[in-house]
Amino acid sequence: MEQKRYGHFDDQHREYVITDPQTPWPWINYLGNEDFFSLISNTAGGYSFYKDAKFRRITRYRYNNVPMDNGGRYFYIKDGDTVWNPGWKPCKTPLDFYECRHGMSYTRITGCKNGVEASVLFFVPLKKWCEVQKLTLRNTTKESKQLKLFSFEEWCLWNAATDMENFQRNFSTGEVEIEGSTIYHKTEYRERRNHYAFYHVNTEIQGFDTDRETFVGLYNEFADPQAVMEGKPRNSHAHGWSPIASHYIEVTLQPGEAKDFVFLLGYIENEQDKKFAAPQVINKEKAHALIAQLDTTEKVDKAFAELCEYWDALLNIYKVKTGNDKLDRMVNIWNQYQCMVTFNFSRSASFFESGVGRGMGFRDSNQDLVGFVHQIPPRARQRIIDIASTQFPDGGCHHQYQPLTKRGNNDIGGGFNDDPCWLIFGTVAYIKETGDFSILDEMVPFDNQPGSEVTLFEHLKISMDHVINNLGPHMLPLIGRADWNDCLNLNCFSWDPNESFQTTENVSEGTKAESLMIAGLFVVTGKDYVALCRKIGKDAEADCMQQAVDAMVEAVKKHGWDGEWYLRAYDFYGRKIGSNECDEAKIFIESQGWCTMAEIGAEEGLVAKSLDSCKKYLECEHGMVLNNPAFSKYIYEYGEISSYPEGYKENAGIFCHNNPWVIIGECLAGRGNDAWSHYAKILPSYVEEKYQTLHKVEPYVNCQMVAGKDAFKPGEGKNSWLTGTAAWMWYTVSEFILGIKPDYDGIRIDPCLPETATDYVVSRKFREAEYEITIHPNGQQKGVKQIVLDGQKVDGTVIPYAPGKHTVEVTM
Ligand code: BGC
Ligand code: NOJ
Repeated sequence: MEQKRYGHFDDQHREYVITDPQTPWPWINYLGNEDFFSLISNTAGGYSFYKDAKFRRITRYRYNNVPMDNGGRYFYIKDGDTVWNPGWKPCKTPLDFYECRHGMSYTRITGCKNGVEASVLFFVPLKKWCEVQKLTLRNTTKESKQLKLFSFEEWCLWNAATDMENFQRNFSTGEVEIEGSTIYHKTEYRERRNHYAFYHVNTEIQGFDTDRETFVGLYNEFADPQAVMEGKPRNSHAHGWSPIASHYIEVTLQPGEAKDFVFLLGYIENEQDKKFAAPQVINKEKAHALIAQLDTTEKVDKAFAELCEYWDALLNIYKVKTGNDKLDRMVNIWNQYQCMVTFNFSRSASFFESGVGRGMGFRDSNQDLVGFVHQIPPRARQRIIDIASTQFPDGGCHHQYQPLTKRGNNDIGGGFNDDPCWLIFGTVAYIKETGDFSILDEMVPFDNQPGSEVTLFEHLKISMDHVINNLGPHMLPLIGRADWNDCLNLNCFSWDPNESFQTTENVSEGTKAESLMIAGLFVVTGKDYVALCRKIGKDAEADCMQQAVDAMVEAVKKHGWDGEWYLRAYDFYGRKIGSNECDEAKIFIESQGWCTMAEIGAEEGLVAKSLDSCKKYLECEHGMVLNNPAFSKYIYEYGEISSYPEGYKENAGIFCHNNPWVIIGECLAGRGNDAWSHYAKILPSYVEEKYQTLHKVEPYVNCQMVAGKDAFKPGEGKNSWLTGTAAWMWYTVSEFILGIKPDYDGIRIDPCLPETATDYVVSRKFREAEYEITIHPNGQQKGVKQIVLDGQKVDGTVIPYAPGKHTVEVTM
């Protein structure tokens, strides 16, 4: 059934256009690419931070609020007795026109009311620590207009966690300075902080406010701030309580006239000995310099053009033309864009991740890497070094690290035994893309301890060793706290509701709990590791690890096969999990995905049976569920997975992240029709068409979880944006479906397509080369018959790398 639609894609501009502000959930976008970041909803809600959403939160945001998305950068326009906002909220005055265009690292929100058009362009310029808000007011009537314009931002007292709780202190620390049209936020600057923020506008102001209570009124709301409703700023100066920044500007517009205002939200750091210009007065030199770079419409337009060029270049590296708009727009625009966002944010800050709980995940960041390594290899390189630096000498890892300090922390526990393998996964992807083997010689510390450095290659080796040194009774990998499934807590027993499943004591000492997911992951990354060793002439190491891989394959065939599918695990007591013998959760997706990707037992038919079982037991209208049947009760020995109600999250939700694993399994098995049908089910552009209302979350990106078939509301999406799904969808479609796979010596071409696929062209920049690859599927799902490179037939399926421009014709 077709559902109500709230927007549509505009592929030409690479935008999603929202035409109704009352979306089923806030539909957000991300601004910023390196240090300064913002989240912005379709009604301009959200917040900004510098590098770390926990420790350097610049503006305040209240999660899970009523109404939902409350607080942001708001412009209030008072036109006679009517007060309205371009993004509809917070006043919610009905608009004559509303449109929000989310683009590549920018958002443009336009509202019209009583003949006035207000359009705001939000973006973070490249390499600058600020958010630009360019507001254009236009009078479309035949009368002149006298408007009162109020801006609004609320400062966060920097540490987003303590900002929400330590009120006995917070209400006395807030400090600001006002200088001309700039409001400075300097709470705690007098002591240890060397940073401040500012909110500026490039015009003279006729008033301001910096104290929230004075501006809003204790019994009013963002929807009706007293100062705005009365059209009178208070010129308040915040001392403690809650500092804000609001400019007041009187605007006269002649008929047809338009005026631009450039607002800047900036962040500055000063050296310790240059903090003050005078006692108690901050040194504003750097702020003045930043403002001077962006104080006119022309300068802002230029910065915006640079941002657009940056994205043009990024999206020019891999482009496909299939003639199927839904596929092309995801591959060419939105999937790649989401990959960049997840790379930047890992799982730290979204409208579902509060920015205080989680930093950069070890496994998450390695996976995110395959999503963007083709676009900005140098940052991928740095990311690999940063991640590896948090590893321990025995190969185990900090499960996450803080972006500001790059130090590992234990906030969500440690001892996840899949973690080390992901380092191999990420590093191999980097080298295949770039040909840069020198990364293997980089000296990388353990746990960030200076003096402990060994080569990155050593880190890879101990990652392999960590698995081999932690095998259980069936010679399968011990699971530790958990594997990829954070919630399958086989060694962490808890009856205490005040305990977090992620950090509750791990009784893994003496445990037998083993994971088939890690077994498959080890075989896949182990084969990669062996190939890498051979490539760099470490044959003895390659031979040795090949044996370990072979042994793992045997262990899986012997102890990991249940008859129709791969088992999921053995529990603490050595009992089977994910077996037909179990009452519930007889089959799990993760081990089907990884063991089919590893092609374990392919000759004996295990892969095909496993894939068929996924279709039979896991697949539903909205994708494949994680396990089936869902757990209907809490199982003390299994932990968090059984704590979720049926159909949600790790308990039989459609965890989009792991659907691509099975899809790749299908591709390797050559089953293109099945691969495609699984893929299309979770492809946002297909969901967008049918299920905007049901799905709720942004229709232009994947979400972590869609409620599964056992849920109260199957098809409802949650946890949008920050999910490994982005990178896995990209990896799957770019390398396995469309079949363009970077390799050490060139590009391997091996598509797996539905039999209905027609000819398509991929243009791919690769190192110093550019390939224009035309594929003629000829109704085949798999199998390259012939490759012609620049008019010459090529042996095998790898087009050898050579700098320059090339054309490639592929016949299947
Ligand atoms: C969630 C997982 C998440 C974990 C770590 C669990 O509650 O279900 O998806 O990875 O917490 O924060
Ligand atoms: C979300 C986490 O970020 C990821 O690391 C984990 O694998 C999945 N949840 C599944 O539990």
